[in-house]
Amino acid sequence: MIEKINDLRRRIEEFTPTTASGVEELRIAVLGKNGEINALMEQFRTVAPEMKREVGQALNAVKTLATERIAELKGSYSDNNKEVRAAADLTRPGTNDTLGSRHPVSVVMGEVCDIFARLGYTIADGPEIEDDWHVFTALNFPPEHPARDMQDTFFIEKNPDILLRTHTSSIQVRTMQTQKPPIRVICPGRVFRNEAISARSHCMFHQVEGLYVDKNVSFADLKQSVLYFAKEFFGEKATIRLRPSYFPFTEPSAEVDVSCQLCGGAGCNVCKYTGWLEIMGCGMVDPAVLEACGIDSREYSGFAFGMGIERTAMLKYGIRDIRLLFENDVRFLQQFESA
Ligand code: PHE
Repeated sequence: MIEKINDLRRRIEEFTPTTASGVEELRIAVLGKNGEINALMEQFRTVAPEMKREVGQALNAVKTLATERIAELKGSYSDNNKEVRAAADLTRPGTNDTLGSRHPVSVVMGEVCDIFARLGYTIADGPEIEDDWHVFTALNFPPEHPARDMQDTFFIEKNPDILLRTHTSSIQVRTMQTQKPPIRVICPGRVFRNEAISARSHCMFHQVEGLYVDKNVSFADLKQSVLYFAKEFFGEKATIRLRPSYFPFTEPSAEVDVSCQLCGGAGCNVCKYTGWLEIMGCGMVDPAVLEACGIDSREYSGFAFGMGIERTAMLKYGIRDIRLLFENDVRFLQQFESA
């Protein structure tokens, strides 16, 4: 009996299968219901009492050995066949995964949102496919305003009330409808305008707009917030100037210029020798807009601002053609901040 057990042990130790099914065959032959170990267990009953101890121990040991060896062999064959193992050259140098980089539009959008987050703004989101009311009517656009023309806005053919938003101000409308002042939101997102694609304009781009509504919000608050942004984004030396402008939803309205950081205001070809770069539109929210969104304009006032992210990214990185941002040529994209 001991002889048989030793023989089995030797065969298990020396067994080198070449396939996963070889391992399975061994398992059935040794550990299976009608396998060798069960047969030995059967014989064990007839072993003389004085031999039981020795034979029993040897039998248990060979069973443990068989179980462990088969588990080990199975592991090495589970998702690995002989050909794959032969082809894998473990001495080959590894290849590094190259890290991607974040898209410059995402980098700038994230930075702008971070700066306003530090002033207590939270991020608001809204749909890219909007209705006329949220994009134009609530924002005080008169019925004959050119933005409502098909030449400027993409409408859905079947339903002219549905359109692709031309600015993220529609998110501000949605926010004012659902939140009570004080409101401080920043609205990043993609917008669409029916414009010819050129080095300076695209039919799809990104904006970040902001809205602040509370009691006693003044133009001075607006100017200070914009100045803080300019210094955080362009550097401590940056200064701003406001030029009177017009938007249907703000009164008064202004265009914000930041001092050109490339020439320090002396004049260069980027700022077209003016020393200033236009970065955003802004103004005090028109009381008619507050009322349309259900906010009492006698109690509350607010300011809003909005900027184009591509333009800002172009200024920051000295990119001369907006189309480069959407061609997704890896050689171009690789030059920006890595992920
Ligand atoms: N919505 C304006 C645009 O798309 C930008 C803007 C926002 C201007 C808020 C003033 C206040 O051009």
